[in-house]
Order: sequence, then C-alpha cells, then structure tokens
Amino acid sequence: MVRASRLRVGVVGAGRVGSVLGRALSDAGHVVVAASGVSRDSVRRAGRLLPGAALLPADEVVAAADLILLAVPDDTLGGLVVGLAETGAWRAGQIVVHTSGAHGLAVLAPAAAFGPLTLAVHPVMTFTGVEEDLERLRGVSFGVTAEPEHRAVAEALVLEMGGEPTWVPENARPLYHAALAMGANHLVTLVNESMDALRTAGVIRPEQLLTPLLQAALDNALRHGDAALTGPVARGDAGTVRRHLRELVDHAPDSVGAYAAMARRTADRAIASGRLRRQDADALLDVLAPRPTIASAATSAQP
Ligand SMILES: NC(=O)c1ccc[n+]([C@@H]2O[C@H](COP(=O)([O-])OP(=O)(O)OC[C@H]3O[C@@H](n4cnc5c(N)ncnc54)[C@H](OP(=O)(O)O)[C@@H]3O)[C@@H](O)[C@H]2O)c1
Repeated sequence: MVRASRLRVGVVGAGRVGSVLGRALSDAGHVVVAASGVSRDSVRRAGRLLPGAALLPADEVVAAADLILLAVPDDTLGGLVVGLAETGAWRAGQIVVHTSGAHGLAVLAPAAAFGPLTLAVHPVMTFTGVEEDLERLRGVSFGVTAEPEHRAVAEALVLEMGGEPTWVPENARPLYHAALAMGANHLVTLVNESMDALRTAGVIRPEQLLTPLLQAALDNALRHGDAALTGPVARGDAGTVRRHLRELVDHAPDSVGAYAAMARRTADRAIASGRLRRQDADALLDVLAPRPTIASAATSAQP
C-alpha cells in the first residue's frame, strides 16, 4: 500500500458524507484545513466533526488544500467543478476526489485539465452526518474509479478511511449506481410497503414480525442467491397470488403495481434458476400477465 503523506484536506460540502469522510481523513493523520457549507445543518456538522476547519467559500477551500473532497449533490457536481475551474482554483499537485456513486472521472475533467489527480471514491454506505457513521466506515467497500497510475493513491486514501476499494470501470459507473439504488433504496420502500399493509391488517408492531423474517431472507439471498426464494411465487401458487392482488386492490391500491411487477420478476427469476418448473408456472404467469389494469386482473379472475 502507498501511504499518502500528511495532506491538507479541504471539504467542499460539509454535508452528511463530506463531514464524516473529512473526519475519517483527519483521524488518519491528515489535517482538514477548511470546509464549505452555508446551511445551518452543514455549519453545525462542520463544527462538530471538523472542529479545526475554517468555514470558507468553495473556491477558498480549494485554494487552501492539497486533497479536495467534493461531497455535494450529484446534480450540482458538474457545475461546481466547472465554476471552480473558471475561478482558477485547480492546480497541479492537488488530489481531487468526489464521493458520488453515479459519476465517474468525466465529471472531474474540467479540474484535471489544470493538472490535479482526480478520483471517484464512493463509499457504499448510508450516511446521516453523525459520529456513529465513522464506526460504520470500518470495512465498508468504496466504489473507486481511477486511472491505473492513480490506483495506489486511491487505495491508500480508502484504506486510511477504514474502507476497502472495489474498482469500477468509468463506463459502468451509472449501472453500478443503479444496482446499489435498486438494492438499498428499493429495499427501504419494500419494507415500508410491507409495514403499512401489516398495520392495515391490524398488526400493531409490524417491525416485530418483520425483523427476524427479513433478516433471514436478506442473509439467505446474499448467501444463496435465487435459491433463497420461498413463498407462493416460488411454489407456482397462482390462487394465493390472485388473492394477494385482490386484497391489495381493496386495501392498498397504491401497492398493486409494485407487487405485481416484483411478482412477475420473481417468477421469471424462479423459472430461470430452476426453482419453479415452467410447466407449473402457467397459471401464475396468467394471473400476473399485464392487463389494462392489474386491478381488473385481480377482480375479474375467478379463484
Ligand atoms: N448520504 C449518503 O448516504 C451518501 C452515501 C454515499 C455517497 N453519497 C454521495 O455523496 C454526495 C453528497 O451527499 P450528501 O448526502 O452528503 O449530501 P448533503 O448531506 O445534502 O450535503 C451536500 C453538501 O453540499 C453542499 N452544497 C450543495 N450544493 C452546493 C453547491 N452548488 N456548491 C457547493 N456546495 C454545495 C451543501 O451545503 P449546504 O448545506 O450549505 O447547502 C452540503 O454541505 C452525493 O454525491 C451523494 O450521492 C451520499
């Protein structure tokens, strides 16, 4: 491992991620000299997690630092890099890192044109900008996109923050991010849909039912892939799925589309993985076949 020397760090965007990664770099022996942020939340986070850093405008943060952490919303990153280039902020010898999962190195090209080494270093973790986030960094993967000659620097920075680099090719970056969003973000929505339906069914503490079930399902899926699937779709139990759809139409109509789409995809995967025999799936696929509205499918079909 190449150990980066003690660097002056500038955090552009003392948000949930910037403040925590800035603190992790400080704990690793670097010096966070400056940070930017104007909202009350960012100012508070900087005061708590980056106590020695001067609060400055972004261009002054860049001017004061050797290692610049750009931790701003994805959609503002490109404009910010260009704006900073127009102020003449970038210079050779700097390391410029952004933390966006969706972007690779291209968004940093206007900075690289002035000589800095650029890296896309995305922590695969959810942050809220509190001290506990630092604990969660230990052993976390970072999706890193870097030119081959810059990988040693990227690896050193990630290891210093407590993480492990996973190399992501530049052109795979959007797909990599879509995959993570599908898993982590949609999981949150699925869990909340399930909890709402359980409450509607009269269950007072849905989290009590779901915690062991969902933990086991997640663990099994991560270990065994499609072989972890259980439930009516895996059994080809069309009657049960039809009743599910009817109940959702009556009690949770906003969930019907998502349930049907996931059930269809679950059936496809169950067939492809040999979990469900094609000849046993016909009735189920018929229940799930796209119709003018899935509500009409649920109400018109006979048990
Ligand atoms: N949160 C997560 O769980 C997570 C995990 C991995 C990666 N990421 C990535 O990390 C990046 C930052 O996310 P975040 O969750 O930390 O966002 P955040 O909490 O909303 O913080 C964004 C920071 O950027 C500043 N900012 C906003 N617009 C700016 C602009 N035009 N110029 C300069 N600074 C600006 C904000 O300052 P003010 O508060 O003053 O507006 C704030 O300090 C994103 O690319 C995100 O995809 C997030």
